[in-house]
Amino acid sequence: LTSVVESQQFDRGMLEDLFEVTKEMERIVEDGAECSLLAGKVMGTLFYEPSTRTRLSFETAMCRLGGKVVSTENAREFSSVAKGETLEDTVRTLEQYVDVIVLRHFQAGSARIAADAASVPLISAGDGPGQHPTQALLDIYTIQKEIGRIDETKVALVGDLANGRTARSLAYVLSKFDKVKLYFVAPDVVRINQDIKDHLTKNGCEWEEVNDLATVAAEVDVLYQTRIQKERFGDKPEDYEKAQGKYIVDKKLVTSMKKGAVVLHPLPRVGEITPEVDSDPRAAYFRQAKNGLYIRMALLTTLLKGN
Ligand code: CP
Repeated sequence: LTSVVESQQFDRGMLEDLFEVTKEMERIVEDGAECSLLAGKVMGTLFYEPSTRTRLSFETAMCRLGGKVVSTENAREFSSVAKGETLEDTVRTLEQYVDVIVLRHFQAGSARIAADAASVPLISAGDGPGQHPTQALLDIYTIQKEIGRIDETKVALVGDLANGRTARSLAYVLSKFDKVKLYFVAPDVVRINQDIKDHLTKNGCEWEEVNDLATVAAEVDVLYQTRIQKERFGDKPEDYEKAQGKYIVDKKLVTSMKKGAVVLHPLPRVGEITPEVDSDPRAAYFRQAKNGLYIRMALLTTLLKGN
């Protein structure tokens, strides 16, 4: 593993190895043990789009492992990009100072461009509507931990499936496992893209597009809700209005789900899961966010130290 730009670069064996390291990271954090695995290493975070979870969990991960962090929040405004510097030149400069770069960018495909320009490992923290590979890693780890398996699970991906990079990345990773069935539940204006459906079909993964969330909710092991991404609608705000609020996860819906099922969400949410759901044991989205710390600790360790 050199850089991380898309979720399909992880095969099942790599995921299982990463899960083992992740469990070890959980133990380190839970024990409150001092850890110096990455002492002497520096991580640079370069975020051109807003973030709470991804940036802070990466930075916490590096701190917990004894490494150090340099960061330019809002890179569009506060880095030399504001003066016209290219992404490639920014990466070639940052790599003079750090051992690993974590990049969030607003353009699909930018992570690949940056990784190709970099001579240190580069981890994508999301590239526009493209992919969010480390989110998929923490999502799949959460499914394993909460459900006890990934094979033979039924998973509903709900919400903005056209712009949602987390759903795209998760669909790719789920296709590595056996007998997973995917349900896509999305408003018409943001339905899942054809390339994902083609990939799933080619890899023998069963999928179905459905409109009725209530029926699917009662059936699935994982209901993965996502936000309608207002910032991606550009000159079509009317499409955002059509999509927003169409599929809401509320107490009534969650109560209809199986006892051992879970509701996940990459977060942030803006009303698509109502707050009264939070107290239901099936609401796993904050536990999911916590797993982001562990999986990113495991990923940084694997990239910088090997297994
Ligand atoms: N899940 C996720 O990517 O959250 P942030 O945008 O807050 O990093």
